Amino acid sequence: MTDTAFADPAGTWNRRFADDGFLFGTAPNGWLREHAGVWQPGQRVLCVADGEGRNSVWLARQGLVVDAFDIAEVGVAKARRLAAEQGVDVNFAVCDCDTFPWPDAAYDGVAAIFIQFADPALRMRLFAHIRRCLKPGGTLVLQGYTPRQLAYRTGGPAIESHLYTEALLREAFAETDITALREYEADLEEGSGHRGRSALIGLVARRRREAA
Ligand SMILES: C[S@@+](CC[C@H](N)C(=O)[O-])C[C@H]1O[C@@H](n2cnc3c(N)ncnc32)[C@H](O)[C@@H]1O
Repeated sequence: MTDTAFADPAGTWNRRFADDGFLFGTAPNGWLREHAGVWQPGQRVLCVADGEGRNSVWLARQGLVVDAFDIAEVGVAKARRLAAEQGVDVNFAVCDCDTFPWPDAAYDGVAAIFIQFADPALRMRLFAHIRRCLKPGGTLVLQGYTPRQLAYRTGGPAIESHLYTEALLREAFAETDITALREYEADLEEGSGHRGRSALIGLVARRRREAA
């Protein structure tokens, strides 16, 4: 992504989502699929910056009650159509992550998949919102790229400060119980947007219950 892309994220992503296909496919992200068993049917999950809806629609199909938002109205319109086609309800909103209402302690889960549009200042605000909107005992499932992805260029922003390391995530989620944190490489086939050898990182972190 270029600096212009970050100056006008809604315009940039609306253009990227304008084609008929799904930029990241319609199947859910692999790390999310692998770890979605942390949530039980009927629980309430928020999908952050869900784009064209592949993750929120799949989570709704697993029986979860799903809220999702994204800044790009073109993406959200496609997500609504995908949900209708697959016969599930998702409560979608077109929203910037800084203006999303972020209810306190409301969600059993948050799915944050490839939200590396956030520079360090925005990321700090975004991660604080994510930590706070989880109920005590609620779980975050997050996937992103590590700086090694700069050599692959198969997806994600080409700006090192947007990428995650284990140390960065460990510090950001120090007050949660981290149940999985893994840097790894894989060959992604998530639409044309995330395709090929990729340097990935995945996190699963549970908000602590209040001490009695
Ligand atoms: C790499 S895509 C990932 C989409 C989706 N999470 C997925 O895995 O398919 C990044 C998404 O972030 C959204 N986005 C960018 N800036 C945003 C912001 N400030 N607030 C909310 N969404 C934003 C884009 O519209 C895009 O859908």
